[in-house]
Amino acid sequence: MAYSEKVMDHFANPRNVGEMKDFSGVGEVGNPKCGDIMRMYIKVEGEVITDVSFMTFGCGAAIATSSMATELIKGKPISEALKLTNKAVMEALDGLPPVKVHCSVLAEQAIKAAVSDYYRRQGIDPAPIVGELPECEECACAL
Ligand code: FES
Repeated sequence: MAYSEKVMDHFANPRNVGEMKDFSGVGEVGNPKCGDIMRMYIKVEGEVITDVSFMTFGCGAAIATSSMATELIKGKPISEALKLTNKAVMEALDGLPPVKVHCSVLAEQAIKAAVSDYYRRQGIDPAPIVGELPECEECACAL
């Protein structure tokens, strides 16, 4: 399976890339399968994610899914961002080759990690709100 045009576009022109200085939460996750790393920053105002950015030391699929994921959660309430699954991100990109599905889990995990960090900074236990970080079902890697 080849990469879709949308994947190629988000890989070549990733949205919302870079470090954020005045973030409300930051999360970093790693993919033990390939060693790739993703960091996600969020800015939260009144429970709404007003800005988001990411940096990744990762593959093209990780870049494309993170880019799309940031577009999908920007301007949305935290509660909605937490519902974003890697499958929804892949659908928005018109699919990923099966061997790259685990890369999309990194984006979903990074969002949840950033939201958890935000709640911790507020003195709130994130576990009941954010839950466990999702695991990659497709490739059964340790994600
Ligand atoms: Fe590592 Fe894609 S191969 S995230």
